[in-house]
Amino acid sequence: RAEDGYALWMRYVPLPSALAAERSEQLQEIVAPDGTPTQRAAREELVRGLTGLLGHAPTLRTTIAGDSGLILGTPQTSSLIAPLQDELAELGNGGYLIRRMRRDGRDVILVAARQDIGVLYGAFHLLRMLQTGAPLDRLDVRESPRVALRVLDHWDNLDGYVERGYAGRSLWDWQSLPEWRDPRYTDYARANASIGINGAVLNNVNASAWSLAPDYLVKAAALADVLRPYGIRVYLSARFSAPIELGGLTTADPLDPGVQRWWQRKVDEIYSYIPDFGGFLVKANSEGQPGPQDYGRSHAEGANLLADALAPHGGVVMWRAFVYAHDVPADRTTQAYTEFKGLDGAFRRNVIVQAKNGPLDFQPREPFHPLFGAMPRTPLMMEFQITKEYLGFATHLVYLGPLYEEVLQSDTHARGPGSTVAQVIDGTLEGHALTGMAGVANIGNDRTWTGSHFDQANWYAFGRLAWNPHQSARDIAADWAAMTFSPDPAVVQPIVDMMMGSREAAVNYMTPLGLHHLMARGHHYGPGPWVDGGPRADWTSVYYHRADGSGIGFDRTASGSNAVAQYAPAVAARYGDINQVPEALLLWFHHVPWDHRMASGRPLWDELIARYAQGVRQVQAMQKTWATLNPVEPGLARLPLAIDPERHAQIAAYLNIQRREAQWWRDASVSYFQSISSRPLPAGESAPP
Ligand code: GCU
Repeated sequence: RAEDGYALWMRYVPLPSALAAERSEQLQEIVAPDGTPTQRAAREELVRGLTGLLGHAPTLRTTIAGDSGLILGTPQTSSLIAPLQDELAELGNGGYLIRRMRRDGRDVILVAARQDIGVLYGAFHLLRMLQTGAPLDRLDVRESPRVALRVLDHWDNLDGYVERGYAGRSLWDWQSLPEWRDPRYTDYARANASIGINGAVLNNVNASAWSLAPDYLVKAAALADVLRPYGIRVYLSARFSAPIELGGLTTADPLDPGVQRWWQRKVDEIYSYIPDFGGFLVKANSEGQPGPQDYGRSHAEGANLLADALAPHGGVVMWRAFVYAHDVPADRTTQAYTEFKGLDGAFRRNVIVQAKNGPLDFQPREPFHPLFGAMPRTPLMMEFQITKEYLGFATHLVYLGPLYEEVLQSDTHARGPGSTVAQVIDGTLEGHALTGMAGVANIGNDRTWTGSHFDQANWYAFGRLAWNPHQSARDIAADWAAMTFSPDPAVVQPIVDMMMGSREAAVNYMTPLGLHHLMARGHHYGPGPWVDGGPRADWTSVYYHRADGSGIGFDRTASGSNAVAQYAPAVAARYGDINQVPEALLLWFHHVPWDHRMASGRPLWDELIARYAQGVRQVQAMQKTWATLNPVEPGLARLPLAIDPERHAQIAAYLNIQRREAQWWRDASVSYFQSISSRPLPAGESAPP
């Protein structure tokens, strides 16, 4: 049933009858080859989509015989497409065009690409146009992916537990693989292909060495077989000490010839199971994971060990820059840059360094990571988190599109003004062909896949931005809302407004004005600004907010940790100046007196309280908007059943949880900070109960 969320944005519910009639006219006949598994996937998707949207199955033909029709294919499969060969070549791997033209008196829509996978992407694009009610006249779409590796990182353990996963257990049922290939794997592949995702790291970055053992490689190979027709390559997280744990060696030193031989054999073995294996993702020397530094070697020496083994097969190493040390540094946010910057140029050509969007850890708001733009000779890939570890798990409605967009549009100034993070990621700034964007998946075996209906939008937005990091989060939200609920603008508009404001709401009720890491310890759900003590200072909140009688915030300027110096001079000058830094990042970079005058004219203390209160009000506003969309409201009765009661009720209930917890965040945070600032609540703000 489309109402339970399983179909994601590929619901294909009937179009309004007038539109369905018009489209049926245009798409009377379909030519879609089925000579390869990918061609079959495209054809099946089109038949499924059109049957749902138009209310009847399309007529499949080998040539268009009637007045109009749709032709899918490559220069090899279609004589109409063959003349477009050069144009298609320019669109590159995965690129496609959709064009409407007259041919022999017929009205034809072409979905054409150089490769089958481009045709599949194009078919999904056309279906999206139909789902969102986009016009089909004068169609001339030309698309090509701007980023080469568009990857989901699954933090899934072999026992089915998903680290930081809030959508049930792992999709991968290792127990029944390889024999049982759950049809859900195919639906996962369809969803990914529909947004251009072309890689999946199957296992957690906190990796078990056993993922590389033959027993599990057979299972990974079965998954790879299911995903392959959809253009998705399988990758594995590699545990650096696997030569010891699996191979029985006494060391995992990257310069040891025995270790090098072990990895070579292991990689050869993996390719014997998975001929198009993508490569390894590695978390090394971070949070207790083993790595090259255990042997006095650098990250580059570690990465190159694996890169050399993968190179003959065309595989890559995605080496993570999320590192922090055993001993607590003066400022944890500086460590990745300190360890990696000097290694620029020391990595093999098939290594890409994967940095989180910000220098700390997927907070509701962080400045962009200072490594972006700082390692011109090394391909850098983005790691976003789709699962909402620090953003209210799956119950809070927080659309991450604006967060992703904000980071991608940030100006690194690496090559002067206009050197955006997006240009680092798409390789254009430094001329890299190896490019990538990873998203830590929010997917599990929950019926909705993502633990809530709205969290599907985060998976969707990640994929769309990985395809083209220059897109607008608002446009993507509009597409998603139209496909997921209804293309009626009366439905799309309010939902998009809710989505676009939701991230700032969470920032306000959790960590306004550049505050960060104030979540409860361990699980990271709910407020804990008082968290102190325990095993590590940088796992406490007081380490980050540094509130005292005089003010609040982490001084990262020259008078403090000087983290700001890791940015290009123009950026450092702006962030480092209390009068120029954006207020949204004020307390990230500065320790600010409670009386500091803010843009609003209010003192910082009053502003802080106002932001917490605003966060709660923003959630209340989302609830109001959602209530207007209730299909049982008399005023909206004329709409097609925009939002079915089933989904409407669940979302309303979740918003209620979010409102209650936003208040909890506000009250707990305000009370706590008041115990430090010893200031009265500003007039008009009620005291927490
Ligand atoms: C965060 C998260 C961990 C995860 C780590 C990582 O610290 O809480 O669960 O392992 O990030 O990205 O490696």
